Amino acid sequence: MKTKTTKQNNSLLLFVMVLYFPSVVGQVSYSIPEEMEKGSLVSNVAQDLGLDLKRLKSGRARIHSGDNAEYLELDKERGLLLVKERIDRETLSICGQTTPCALHFQIALEQPIEILPVTVEVTDMNDNDPVFEKEGRVLEISESAVVGSKFMLEKAVDPDIGLNGLQSYTLKPNDNFILKLHRQSDGGKKVEMILQKPLDREKEEFVTLLLTAHDGGEPQRSGTMQIQIQVLDVNDNAPVFTQNVYKANLKENSASGTLITRVSASDADKGSNGEVSYVIGNGMSSVSKLFHITEDGNFVLKGPIDYEKAQKYEIDIEAVDRGGLSDSSKVIIDVGDVNDNTPVIKMISSSTSVEEELPANTVIAVMSVKDPDSEENGRVNCVIDNNIPFKVTSTSTFYSIVADGDLDRERSSEYNITVTCSDEGMPSLFSSVTLTLHISDVNDNAPVFERSSYEAYVVENNTPGLSVLMLKASDADWNQNARLSYILEDSSVNGVPVSSYVSVSADSGVIHAVRSFDYEQLKEFNFRVRAQDGGSPPLSSNVSVRILIQDQNDNAPQVLYPVQTGGSLLAEMVPRSADVGYLVTKLVAVDVDSGQNAWLSYKVHKATDRALFEVGLHNGEIRTVRQVTDKDAVKQKMTVVVEDNLTMHDKEYNDQLTFYLVLALAVVSFLFITCLLLIISVKVYRWRQSRVLYHSNLPVIPYCPPRYSDTLGTGTLPHVYNYEVCRTTDSRKSDCKLDRAPSHNVMCPNAFELLKTGIFTNF
Ligand SMILES: *[C@@H]1O[C@H](CO)[C@@H](O)[C@H](O)[C@H]1NC(C)=O
Ligand SMILES: *[C@@H]1O[C@H](CO)[C@@H](O)[C@H](O)[C@H]1NC(C)=O
Ligand SMILES: *[C@@H]1O[C@H](CO)[C@@H](O)[C@H](O)[C@H]1NC(C)=O
Repeated sequence: MKTKTTKQNNSLLLFVMVLYFPSVVGQVSYSIPEEMEKGSLVSNVAQDLGLDLKRLKSGRARIHSGDNAEYLELDKERGLLLVKERIDRETLSICGQTTPCALHFQIALEQPIEILPVTVEVTDMNDNDPVFEKEGRVLEISESAVVGSKFMLEKAVDPDIGLNGLQSYTLKPNDNFILKLHRQSDGGKKVEMILQKPLDREKEEFVTLLLTAHDGGEPQRSGTMQIQIQVLDVNDNAPVFTQNVYKANLKENSASGTLITRVSASDADKGSNGEVSYVIGNGMSSVSKLFHITEDGNFVLKGPIDYEKAQKYEIDIEAVDRGGLSDSSKVIIDVGDVNDNTPVIKMISSSTSVEEELPANTVIAVMSVKDPDSEENGRVNCVIDNNIPFKVTSTSTFYSIVADGDLDRERSSEYNITVTCSDEGMPSLFSSVTLTLHISDVNDNAPVFERSSYEAYVVENNTPGLSVLMLKASDADWNQNARLSYILEDSSVNGVPVSSYVSVSADSGVIHAVRSFDYEQLKEFNFRVRAQDGGSPPLSSNVSVRILIQDQNDNAPQVLYPVQTGGSLLAEMVPRSADVGYLVTKLVAVDVDSGQNAWLSYKVHKATDRALFEVGLHNGEIRTVRQVTDKDAVKQKMTVVVEDNLTMHDKEYNDQLTFYLVLALAVVSFLFITCLLLIISVKVYRWRQSRVLYHSNLPVIPYCPPRYSDTLGTGTLPHVYNYEVCRTTDSRKSDCKLDRAPSHNVMCPNAFELLKTGIFTNF
């Protein structure tokens, strides 16, 4: 069979193939492409069948296509076969994938009936793309899939046939996969994707591929499908710590729960394969009591940290994922010191008692001081608190308490030495220890008398054994070293050992008189008393003692003038013409006592005429009181008493003296002129008198011999070898003048009558 085909581009040119069937009259075939426009000319069928146009009309020609749809129509006027409806080869039920695809119908004529078959072949045009059933597809492939793994892909469909049908596939990108086509027995092609390079989820989790199906038409058509590959994770990555070593500083005594550091490990895997938990490494049970690591990597303190036990911790840690893969690292913790330890003082050796007068720098105690803290927290300084004579010295290992200066038991017999040791931390911690040190006594203090010298008065005529004075000395030492005894030092008084005058009681220090003292023989004497302690060797000191003997009125006055001889009385001559105040005579007496005991007074005891004479109280002068008249007796007798001990008069005199002086001054001015006139007239008068009257002189006063006989029993005149003459003139306050005189053997006149306190003198 021969087919003539004419190709036509975008035009309604007809390709007519006229077939001649020799056995069948009038049968024709045509070939037309699919998809021709409606009304397009297929062929001049009347001409091809050899029919004229009249026959077509008269025969009422029509197309009979049986059950099939009528795609073509017959133009009876012109005898043309035209396209009635657009023909899609691929949709024609009679064609499908079969080739060739032809429309079979008949042209039916009447009068006479004629049936003329016509065949129109519809040829394929590349009017369809290869098409995938789905636009995309998701594949889940494990990253562990091995090279060569196969994955079946969808096929594409292209209704066109022949070259216009599906020809090939391509896959892009093709890094991991290649395509392989398998021709199937039915002529179709199976598409497979083969893994040629392993997937790595950690690099690329989602891989997007574009599968393209190509046909062989001209121009070529294609269809695509997206293949989304999700790479499924496999635990193929271990966790990795961010650091090989984690360093942290931690103060000791930090609170439990303190966050020390944060560790972290990353795991490239996904999901549970990438979930990391942290643990403290094996073999770290000792530190696992102290530290804890949370699942999310917080490294926290759990137990007490003591710098003094460990200054550094190195802890292995592990990070583990759910798949059991792990990594390890280290946490290094430097523990910081805190001043939490007080210094510890230990007494190694100490004295409880030392002697006073210790040499300087004598060691009293040795101790050790330790502070476990470090640096300045453990650097310790020791001092002694109070201001006491001790100090602390230190060597590299020990501290010593040494006596600084001299110790004196008498100043302080006991010391509480408190040593305080403090460290240099902030704040500083300290501790202290107290050592009680007793200072024992050394006999280093001599006795000391309460006074630098002693003086005592003893009234003469004392009884022997009289306690005169008590000496008192003290000694600052202790016990036996302070036990004192008093000793009289040897010396002599007037050639006699002092021990015959006084004795000293060794225990009490009381001085006793050994004999009765006589003031008139011994007025005072000195000696030394020593106080000695019981130490070994003993110490002593001495003091001078002065005993003053006091006078007693134990001697009666002695009349020196007038000298009394053999009971005869002294006679004095007084001229009749004697004036008032005429000095008859002067009595002189002495007393061997001293002081007031020797102050003498003269008083008239008996007199013939008391109004004629008077005796000076103190000076013993006998003077006339008035003019001697003719009526007066020729012989006047008068007894004068001499007394010592003027104390009573003294008193009165003193009281009245001031008054007398004032009165005298007042009277003097008044009487001055009167006296002046009187003196002149008296002078004139005396001048006349002196020419006629006897002129008498004052007698010379002889010394009375010291020894003379005692004529009365009531008192005795002691034998004296020296005596005082007191000028008992107006000034009784003046001192007596001592005159030492050799002894005389002249007897005093017997005319004196001696009383206990005085001597009567008769004229
Ligand atoms: C030393 O301490 C003791 C006991 O505390 C105390 O009795 C004594 O008086 C103290 N001595 C001195 C000298 O302070
Ligand atoms: C008495 O003490 C003095 C010092 O006060 C001393 O010089 C003298 O020698 C001592 N006398 C005696 C006898 O001990
Ligand atoms: C001396 O006078 C005093 C005071 O008037 C008197 O107490 C004392 O007894 C008198 N002494 C003698 C020895 O008369």
